[in-house]
Amino acid sequence: MAVQVHEAFTDWKRFRQASASAVSVGFIPTMGALHEGHASLIRMAREEVGPDGHVVVSVFVNPTQFNDPADFEAYPSTRESDIRVAGVAGADAVVFPGSGELYPEGIPHRVEPADYGALTSLWEAAHRPGHFDGVVAVVRALFDQVQPDRAYFGEKDWQQLAVIRTLAQREFPDLIVVPAPTVREADGLAMSSRNARLSREDRVMAGGLHHALQAVVDAGGAPEEASRQEAALRAAGWGVEYLAVVDSGKLEATLEPGTFRRVIVAARRGGVRLIDNLPVPV
Ligand code: PAF
Repeated sequence: MAVQVHEAFTDWKRFRQASASAVSVGFIPTMGALHEGHASLIRMAREEVGPDGHVVVSVFVNPTQFNDPADFEAYPSTRESDIRVAGVAGADAVVFPGSGELYPEGIPHRVEPADYGALTSLWEAAHRPGHFDGVVAVVRALFDQVQPDRAYFGEKDWQQLAVIRTLAQREFPDLIVVPAPTVREADGLAMSSRNARLSREDRVMAGGLHHALQAVVDAGGAPEEASRQEAALRAAGWGVEYLAVVDSGKLEATLEPGTFRRVIVAARRGGVRLIDNLPVPV
């Protein structure tokens, strides 16, 4: 059956009630501009909930998670392509909710702060004040609307994944949060809706971010190599916000022996902010 398109969760819920029994629901929340990374999440959900399950994608550009209003304004809107990508990847429904269903009292100027310790104070949180407050607020509202059995998030946003896992553990204990591997371009650049905003020259240079991470991994996750790679990125014209080796779960830079480590990076190229990360094999 062709993918169903709904303008509100209320319509989607009506359709669900009329058309199906209590099958497993796999949910992929997105902000649109769907690319192969999103398609891989949808395919994974299709596979895991099975042919009788229901796969739903939401598209909502959440204003409360943008600490930079210009970034929000520049966010691409690609509705027809989003519907096509979701349908081809195996989604049953795409919902484009209005803000009223997610913020019934209007879009707040400041949302309630989310305090998950280091997860909501370091790295992305420190460089994008209020970002995770907005992510937690909207994902909580999305989970409340959809009541999914499984929800899919890409590992590219490693810290976001950790924050959402914590939200689910605390408030949605029956929900399974499924992480999905980062999908990369041929030169290693992690797929992201922001890549489309890179100039041709910057796109050529952008693979350097992955190579810097890989060099730190190849050096066994040595923090000194992270410092060396950070300096090399700066010399190549990157505005590096952080490049660090962290505890994979707690995101702290204090590394106890035997902890799983992850190399994380955020850097700007020509005004476009990119993030990425890689695991350090044990
Ligand atoms: O990763 C994203 O696209 C967004 O942060 C999310 C999880 C859809 C919340 O707006």
